[in-house]
Amino acid sequence: MRQLIAGNWKMNGLQAEAAALAAVLRDGADGLACDLLVCPPATVLAAVAAALHGSPVVVGGQDCHPEPAGARTGDVSAPMLRDAGAAWVIVGHSERRLGYGESNGLVRQKAQAAIAAGLTPIVCVGETEQQRLSGNAEPVVAAQVDGSVPPGFPGVVAYEPVWAIGTGRSASEDDVVAMHRCIREQLVATLGEGGAGVRILYGGSVKPAGAAALLALPGVGGALVGGASLVAADFLAIARAAARDALSNRAAPG
Ligand code: PGA
Repeated sequence: MRQLIAGNWKMNGLQAEAAALAAVLRDGADGLACDLLVCPPATVLAAVAAALHGSPVVVGGQDCHPEPAGARTGDVSAPMLRDAGAAWVIVGHSERRLGYGESNGLVRQKAQAAIAAGLTPIVCVGETEQQRLSGNAEPVVAAQVDGSVPPGFPGVVAYEPVWAIGTGRSASEDDVVAMHRCIREQLVATLGEGGAGVRILYGGSVKPAGAAALLALPGVGGALVGGASLVAADFLAIARAAARDALSNRAAPG
């Protein structure tokens, strides 16, 4: 299985910017050794999906409501994302867990809704700085995985330490490897054998400069990229750094 490089545009991208970014990605994405995904805001998702149609770049949403339709002012459902051209959706990003009080149970419901709508979910997990400093990073993240990933999970998990998101700080290589091993063990404990094949991405200030070293680490199945995904040249440079099998080293401890 190939590594996945996913771009999370967050609340960025007016129509013209999104179209310009999609056009450069479309031109630059041929021949990459990884899977490439962009997750634009819902308002431009259909336009970006149309612009990338027929290219290797697939499109996803950034969140979905657990219900398919109904009286939920302001929310976007998984079938709506699918209808707009999405094939993937991010759920449980820390900006939603912390900013909107989303629990593991809600994230799991969202992942289930995504799967029911034919979308592949990316379930995000990650500890706060305080949790890491107090020595609780691994139990916190393991509990997030166990509580957020539904049975038969066909998706991807993204490990994003909260303190590394948008800060320019990155987890050390040893910490990334140790946490990816911990997540793998929890996935197998939660899902059984199926947990061995789930790609685990790293996210948090991933930039072109450190991408090759990061993506070569044991257990790293790709990257979830925020800020650098808004700069087409940077995002493509990260994608070019991903050039090996995402699971080739899964037999390494975890
Ligand atoms: P960042 O964001 O790359 O800007 O740190 C990553 C994310 O939040 O997915």
